[in-house]
Amino acid sequence: MALIGNNIFKAKELLQNGHLVAIPTETVYGLGANALDASAVLKVYEVKQRPFFDPLIIHVSSLDQALNYAELNDERLKKLAQKFWPGPLTLLLPKKNILPSGEAGIPDLVTSGLSNVAVRVPQHELTLQLLNQLNFPVAAPSANPFGYVSPTEAEHVNKQLGEKIEYILDGGKCTVGIESTIVGLEEGEICVYRLGGLAIEDIEKEIGKVSLRINNSSDPKAPGQLKNHYAPNKPLHIGKLNDLIERYNKKTMAILCFGKTPSPKPNVTYFNLSEKENLEEAAINLFSLLRKTGEGNFDVILAEPLPEKGLGRAINDRLRRAETKQSTNWE
Ligand code: TXA
Ligand code: MG
Repeated sequence: MALIGNNIFKAKELLQNGHLVAIPTETVYGLGANALDASAVLKVYEVKQRPFFDPLIIHVSSLDQALNYAELNDERLKKLAQKFWPGPLTLLLPKKNILPSGEAGIPDLVTSGLSNVAVRVPQHELTLQLLNQLNFPVAAPSANPFGYVSPTEAEHVNKQLGEKIEYILDGGKCTVGIESTIVGLEEGEICVYRLGGLAIEDIEKEIGKVSLRINNSSDPKAPGQLKNHYAPNKPLHIGKLNDLIERYNKKTMAILCFGKTPSPKPNVTYFNLSEKENLEEAAINLFSLLRKTGEGNFDVILAEPLPEKGLGRAINDRLRRAETKQSTNWE
């Protein structure tokens, strides 16, 4: 198992020496490596068993730092960065091939050879302190094996990747709980590629209408999310709860509910995402409840979609991706 602690000096030293460190962010825990060190980045893909065509996000401590590695010329994207960084927003920006220091830019391994690099400034004090002390960005995908539910606590990381990494920087439970919203620019239009912890409504309040390009394919040329993702280790079905309960009444059911917990039924255990119908709270609880129900003594996990607004859209997106047939969950 990995060592767990909150020693940023230790984290810094390990990262400087090409090792991997799991880092906390407000969204989910990341599996971090020095983004300028291709051999450290290679370990990230190996440990996660992630295909090389799925690029990584780099994490920096400020907008100024981001400008060392990427171009930020579009006024709308600039406005979003100024408004929402640090925060659950990732921007896809043209990568700089030469750094201000004269060194080569972010290696192609990080961006899967694409001309854009994904950048974000996480809103987590411990990680911001760490990033502030590094003279390189940290490339970090979510710290889970490829295709599985993202970790929102240090212990989640330890359970799944603890054997393969040396240190987990423990920053407590993630306060957003769902990955960052990914935004980029295509033919002059601002596009959202992944629904996440920053609601579309909040983005549109700043810069007007954006277009949704949520990826549902496994096409390496269309990076973003793969279709079968967020798999808990149980079949998961979504629909109207009463219909689902009727359909699976021979099974032991774990039900993810939202709002008032329904009255008890045989074979049913309820897990409430948010009794108060608060979508932020539901996002915080989503991945840990997917884990809990996945590890529990149940045959199936059932869920009803949440309201399609605010973070509800990102939560529904994750539920739909978790729903794919079990046989294809670990592709
Ligand atoms: O909240 C988050 O974003 C977390 C924390 C750790 O920061 N990270 C995260 O990373 O969710 P990951 O690797 O699990 O998801 C990153 C997504 C992937 O779907 C990837 O395809 C996309 O970002 N991505 C990364 N770089 C890209 C690029 N250059 N162009 C297009 N998509 C990119
Ligand atoms: Mg991920």
